[in-house]
Amino acid sequence: MRKIVFLLLACAVTNVNAQTKLSPQKMKVLVEESLQFSARQYHLMMRSLPDSVFPRSTNKDGSLMTAKFNWWTAGFYPGSCWYLYEYTKDKTFRTEALKRQEFLLPDQYRTNTHDLGFLMYCSFGNGWRLEHTPAFKEVLLTSSRSLATRFKPTIGAIRSWDHSGWKCPVIIDNMMNLEMLCWATKNSGDSSFWKIAVTHANTTMKNHYRKDYSSFHVVDYDTITGKVLAQKTHQGYSDASAWSRGQAWGLYGFTMMYRETKDRRYLDQARHIAEFMLNHPHMPADLVPYYDFDAPEIPNAVRDASAAAVMSSALLELSRYTDKEESKRYWNAGADALASLAGPAYRAKEGVNNNFILLHSTGSMPGKSEIDVPLSYADYYFIEALLRYKKWSSR
Ligand code: GLY
Repeated sequence: MRKIVFLLLACAVTNVNAQTKLSPQKMKVLVEESLQFSARQYHLMMRSLPDSVFPRSTNKDGSLMTAKFNWWTAGFYPGSCWYLYEYTKDKTFRTEALKRQEFLLPDQYRTNTHDLGFLMYCSFGNGWRLEHTPAFKEVLLTSSRSLATRFKPTIGAIRSWDHSGWKCPVIIDNMMNLEMLCWATKNSGDSSFWKIAVTHANTTMKNHYRKDYSSFHVVDYDTITGKVLAQKTHQGYSDASAWSRGQAWGLYGFTMMYRETKDRRYLDQARHIAEFMLNHPHMPADLVPYYDFDAPEIPNAVRDASAAAVMSSALLELSRYTDKEESKRYWNAGADALASLAGPAYRAKEGVNNNFILLHSTGSMPGKSEIDVPLSYADYYFIEALLRYKKWSSR
């Protein structure tokens, strides 16, 4: 029965997204132009950024909000610089990535955060991918060992936060930290990292997902029995709602886990999440989600361009692991979201927006923080999606 529903939904979306909004030729031009724009904009960012900090967002007074090395988003800027170096071959991006990621070095020893994948794999991980520098490998292995200390065998998951008020919270975002653990096993021969990643993904699949394949943001566990105590939200509209970036983290995370393991269950999970997002009646026509699919202010709710950027990058990859019509549909949806982000409604003008690339992301609506602003991770996944489109459109 579930299979039939899935197929019916798949057919429905096929008809909607049989073609991309822009022709492949126009899309190619837009992607190149957006990458060149991103490089120019980040050159301006580089020149204006104070030493030893990282671009985070925009303050309420319009000034640049920066972050220190220990804020969870600090790795995205050096990561974006690596991507732009890969694209432009302009050595100033490499120099900037090296300079900024140097400030992240103390993070590799931290055992009080689960964000080490975001912090270290987006920065040093991209550096390693491009240059295979032995020192980067050591940093990534140390970071992986630190992250592994947070794995709770009774629960089968990596603890996310140490904040008070929770027993052992695990957030859907944590799926994004598993890529570094898979890398660590491949590059050390120590299978314990990979086992942790797989166990965490399996536990997430079991306890974070509802029947419709939307996900809770936070699952709180009992540390002694491993039982689920509560399924809540932190950044979404309500405990029962679908926080958009959380859906995108899950989509990206399970697509990536399929790439790393070839376990079909992860692929199916990613396909179901994609269907949930793309078929949702509250998904806007431009495929840039509202901050939460259940926000009561829809259609006047704020958007989250970061969710669209993560979703776009994930869908472009998911299309490579699926067949024919389904593959085309995911590719087209990823491309359409990317085209929206690259268009005038979401892409900043040169030299404004504190030199961030994208407008209109939302960090935490309930926390009343970072609402309708640029965010460094929206830019990172936008650049990643542009590069993925460029690389894979010629397949
Ligand atoms: N990892 C936190 C967020 O997505 O806002």
